[in-house]
Parts: sequence; C-alpha cells; structure tokens
Amino acid sequence: MKITVVGAGAVGATTADNIARRELAEEVVLLDIKEGLSEGKSLDMFQTATLLGFDTKLTGSTNNYEKTAGSDVVVITSGLPRKPGMTREELIGTNANIVKGVAQNILQHSPDAILIIVSNPMDTMTYLTLKSLGLPKNRVIGMGGILDSARFKTYLSFALNCPPNDIHGTVIGGHGDTTMIPLTRLATRNGVPVSQFLDADTLKKVAADTMVGGATLTGLIGTSAWYAPGAATALLVESIVRDQKHIFPCCVYLEGEYGQSDICLGVPVVIGKNGWESIVDYQLNEDEQAAFNKSADAVRNMNNVLST
Ligand code: NAI
Repeated sequence: MKITVVGAGAVGATTADNIARRELAEEVVLLDIKEGLSEGKSLDMFQTATLLGFDTKLTGSTNNYEKTAGSDVVVITSGLPRKPGMTREELIGTNANIVKGVAQNILQHSPDAILIIVSNPMDTMTYLTLKSLGLPKNRVIGMGGILDSARFKTYLSFALNCPPNDIHGTVIGGHGDTTMIPLTRLATRNGVPVSQFLDADTLKKVAADTMVGGATLTGLIGTSAWYAPGAATALLVESIVRDQKHIFPCCVYLEGEYGQSDICLGVPVVIGKNGWESIVDYQLNEDEQAAFNKSADAVRNMNNVLST
C-alpha cells in the first residue's frame, strides 16, 4: 500500500504522521511545492520510526509527482488555510486552482487512486475535483464531517462531564460554520439519547459551539487547526486501506439521496477499499431535512462561483 499526502503544511504533515505511526501503508510520500519542506518533515518523522516502533517509510518530494506514482490513496491538503476572522469560503479562488492542478498531476501517475479532499472550502473543492477529472464518484471523498463530528462529541462530553468515547454523534451537511448540521436528536451517550441528560438550551449551545469549532481554534491559535484534522483524515484513510466498512460522515456526490442532486455534501457513508461504497439513510425529520436543503443551497452557490 502506498499513500501520498499533498501539502506538507500543518494538516498534511500531521496526517502523514498519523498514517505512519499506525502503519497504514508501506510508504507515505509527502509532496509540497515549497522547496525542501516535505523532505525535511518526512525525514524528521522517519527519525521517529525507531522511537515509536513503526516501519512505514516516509519520502519527501518537492513537486516531483513521479515519486507519487502508483499511490492507492492520495490526500490533498495543499492550499491556503484561513486566518482569524476568515471563513473557509474566502479561500475559494486560490485553492480551486491549486487543488485542480494537484489532482491532475496526481492522476497522471496514479490513475486508480482514491482521492481524499481536505483543502477548503472542502465541499466545493470535492465537487470541483470530481467534475474536472471525471472520476468515478466513489473515488472522490471530502473530509470534514469526521472532524466536525469529533468536535461535536467533544463539546457533548464537556456538557455531560463524561469521556468523549462514550458518545456517538454525527455532523452532516456542508463543512462551513453556517452549513454544518450537528444531529443532536440522534446523538447518544452509551446508547441513550443525549436529550435524556441535557436540556434543549444546552443542546443548542453544544450545536452552536460545534459549528464554530474551527473558528474558535483559529482565533486561539492564529491559523487553522491540525491535530484533529490530521487524525480525522488518517481515520478515513484507515477505513479504506483496511477495508473496515466504517460509517463516517463524508462529503460525496449526491444523485437524489437526501433529496439533493449534482452536489457534494456531507452524509453518512460506508467507507471501504473501493472508497465510499454506499450512502446510509438517517431518515431525517422535517427540521433536519430543511437544514440540509439550506446547507445544499449555500454550497451550490459556492460551487456556482467557480463556473462564473
Ligand atoms: P498550511 O499552510 O500549513 O499547508 C498548506 C501547504 O500546501 C503549504 O505547505 C504549501 O506550500 C502547500 N501548497 C500550496 N500550493 C501547493 C501546490 N500547488 N502543490 C503542493 N503543495 C502546495 O495549511 P494547513 O493548515 O495544512 O491547511 C491546508 C488546507 O486544509 C487549508 O485549505 C485548510 O483550510 C484546510 N483544512 C481543512 C480541514 C477539513 O476538515 N477539511 C481542516 C483543517 C484545514
């Protein structure tokens, strides 16, 4: 198994680090346009192999796509991150050109790869990749919902004063401060609906905190987060390379599912060796479906910016 991570910045390097530590591949290639960055970070990470006990080889590449040849999975994190006060959507112009160019280069050397899109605005970047390359829909997956769900579970655990791993919770819809939908109705603590422990106002606050979870971190750190994004991306990679069939909320192309078509948006999907393999129907209630439709409208407007 060979995995390439494009973008050796904060998120890309953390993703590669998680993949190597968990030995999800024989080789991880880290590629960046910035001279020396990917070589330096790969070497630094590979020097932890004897300290942490992993055998995955890490290779750096300054924009040489030949080194990525034959990759099974490729993670695209290249592009600008947001700064405090910015929305993910403001990154669209610059990142669209970067993501499209990178994806074209990747496919020349790894025509069968499954692509995971992380660069923001992620829903639009996923749609752009799928449409511009004409790949089978199952091989293009946007990562956002796994991260947003991790944040949702963290905020629920704070409210419940319990360990995050006791909680199940999912965020669907777009990966934007106003487009994501934390599904509080379906969240559970060890199988019991969280509404049995928390009143409606607290649940509303948990959902609101989740939606601005990324912006909160950007405000604190000064740039966007990387530990949880990198871990979330590696979890997605793991379900593909180990064919685990986990259900994760991911951004995928919809053709009528959840009432939407010709759009990439976050829904629960089964993830295995073929990429995303099927969409799971959570049977949204009326309010949830209305929120999903609103989210789709906002993402569609963003997609249209690219074609104008
Ligand atoms: P960063 O600035 O630390 O790293 C980005 C890297 O991309 C830089 O090293 C840069 O040299 C490289 N790059 C730029 N153009 C390139 C090209 N044409 N080819 C190869 N490499 C190129 O940024 P960070 O924090 O790693 O974030 C990366 C992206 O991921 C941003 O767009 C950010 O908004 C997004 N993000 C998405 C998340 C999600 O859940 N989907 C979560 C966190 C960040």
